Amino acid sequence: MSEKRIIIALDFASAREALTLVDQLDPQVCRVKIGNELFTATGPSLIRDIAARKFDVFLDLKFHDIPTTVARAVSAAADLGVWMMNVHAAGGQIMMEQASEALAGFGDSRPLLIAVTVLTSMAEGDLGDVGINCKPQEWVQRLATLANAAGLDGVVCSAAETSMLRASLPAEFCLVTPGIRRAEDTVGDQKRVVGPAEAIANGSDYLVVGRPITRANSPLEALEAFNTAVAGVS
Ligand code: C5P
Repeated sequence: MSEKRIIIALDFASAREALTLVDQLDPQVCRVKIGNELFTATGPSLIRDIAARKFDVFLDLKFHDIPTTVARAVSAAADLGVWMMNVHAAGGQIMMEQASEALAGFGDSRPLLIAVTVLTSMAEGDLGDVGINCKPQEWVQRLATLANAAGLDGVVCSAAETSMLRASLPAEFCLVTPGIRRAEDTVGDQKRVVGPAEAIANGSDYLVVGRPITRANSPLEALEAFNTAVAGVS
């Protein structure tokens, strides 16, 4: 298959659990995401192990620090061979620009660098508490525009924001969307979910899917169903 839209969130506590799943998967038909829990538990060796199995790894560590520190962290992640990584757009334009510049020397193996705008766990009142007095969607739009201006490749966004961002940002700006469920999947702690075909039709490029695949009786069958659902949707 030419387009691998599904990024499987490896939300596990140990390398053993993550590799048990990864070793059932075909890197031709999916990508994987390693987040803070798994990375903190296992360290960078797991990234090398999974990248060596030819998987595209999205390293979801959401860097947010002074520009020099983030640039060095981004460069260190690129050295590990990741395909995509992210920073917090709230770190500001200079932080994002320096992070992007840190990847310039990686040539054809340059990973994609995307930004987190507003965490979906933050509602309007939570933003007000930290001094941001606007609606979450306005803040998302502003931070995504800043990320684009800083030369980043895209943003993580909720399904509720995809159409808005797609309408205002360049076609090649990459939108990565979690909170994806088929009708038969358990919603869990996600607040607003959207189906895989709908998310792609609304403008997402990649879908982050965790438990509907990782906790399925047959992860392979679940992945196949997600891939079938998005095949041919544009
Ligand atoms: O299991 P589930 O499909 O809900 O997993 C979604 C994944 O996407 C998790 O790794 C979660 O941390 C991540 N994510 C999210 N919402 C965001 C950002 C990331 O669900 N706004």
